[in-house]
Amino acid sequence: MPAALFSPLGIREITLRNRIVVSPMLTYCAEGGHVNDFHLAHLAQFAAGGAGLVFMESTKIDPAGCSTPRDTGLWKDDFIEPLKRITALIKRNGAVPAIQLGHSGRKARRSVPWEGRVPMADAPGVDHGETWELIGPSAVAHDSKYAVPREMAREDIRKAAEAWGEAARRANDAGFDVVEIHGAHGYLIHQFLSAVANRRTDEYGGSLENRMRFAAEVAREIRKRWPEGKPLFFRASAVDETGWTIEDSIALAKVLKANGVDVIDCSAGGMSDGATASEMAPAYGYQVPYAREIRAGAGIMTMAVGMIVHSDHAEEIVSGGSADLVALGREMLHNPHWPIDAAQKLGVEAPFAGIPNAYAYFLEKRSKSKLIKPSTFQTGM
Ligand SMILES: Cc1cc2nc3c(=O)[nH]c(=O)nc-3n(C[C@H](O)[C@H](O)[C@H](O)COP(=O)(O)O)c2cc1C
Repeated sequence: MPAALFSPLGIREITLRNRIVVSPMLTYCAEGGHVNDFHLAHLAQFAAGGAGLVFMESTKIDPAGCSTPRDTGLWKDDFIEPLKRITALIKRNGAVPAIQLGHSGRKARRSVPWEGRVPMADAPGVDHGETWELIGPSAVAHDSKYAVPREMAREDIRKAAEAWGEAARRANDAGFDVVEIHGAHGYLIHQFLSAVANRRTDEYGGSLENRMRFAAEVAREIRKRWPEGKPLFFRASAVDETGWTIEDSIALAKVLKANGVDVIDCSAGGMSDGATASEMAPAYGYQVPYAREIRAGAGIMTMAVGMIVHSDHAEEIVSGGSADLVALGREMLHNPHWPIDAAQKLGVEAPFAGIPNAYAYFLEKRSKSKLIKPSTFQTGM
């Protein structure tokens, strides 16, 4: 039986060769928001390894939204040209290039992980780094180690939603075919969703409907500038530490679907330190049930993520109807050619189809060669 994991998926006018996605992962290697050769080599290898969709890390729509001074940016046109090399090479290697667009809100301005993720006073080297202001839906700090953000005025909210739209316009100019809104992990959009981070008394706070308003506006601003034929994803924290529930996520998914979102990428947490998805020590597929529930509850395509490591498990997630796509993060850092391996393990008929000839030709030959058992080698001893 053909593997569901390797069946193509069409979303709007874009077709993915399979259901395997490289999850967005910050690399903390940019300078002043600019990508460099590291990003090119890093992202292109995943496409050469057979993934269907390759996500570039959370790239910031505004310098004040940078998690660290080493984040990539898309807040001005200068960033477009160098990104074109990356999208072109991903496409040449057979995958679809995608980018996640984010703003960290009150969780911005920290040092990189290997320098302790400590809140910083400023960050020379990033646009406006010396006057880097923390903003959020309300003047409530992430926790006691963090500075209190300035409560965003309505004008700030409007500008932020527009900045997401403008960044998507630049992403299209740079050659990306999928955009994902980062609405998870305790960052700006998630802060608006959370009744704990968002204490506003205007139309952006209070009821669930009001707290979802900013997320919907971001989707609409993107859809105004992002081509109709290209997919829009939204990464949500399906549940969090501040009381956001799976039912809230289903309601959010319905609102987003009505505003042009095609796929919900189902992560969790991030509203307290040490509880981001990547830092928990969970079981295999710990977030898959969220993808399943949102898919069924909102009638929308979903992407499952989190400790999906084994090919038979990934296959079961797709064939069993839990999700339309599976995203792998750290496992791809471990083995960027995971899809080639998975295709062979799942018995896909042409496991090397679509990957660059420089690999496919030789791997195919090797797979057909008769191996001589080590015991028959002449050791000469
Ligand atoms: C180094 C690293 C960077 C990450 N950066 C992002 C990011 O930019 N945006 C995001 O939504 N999630 C980010 N994540 C979370 C991953 O996308 C993924 O959801 C998480 O690692 C769980 O999947 P895994 O078990 O396959 O790694 C990051 C994770 C890691 C390990």
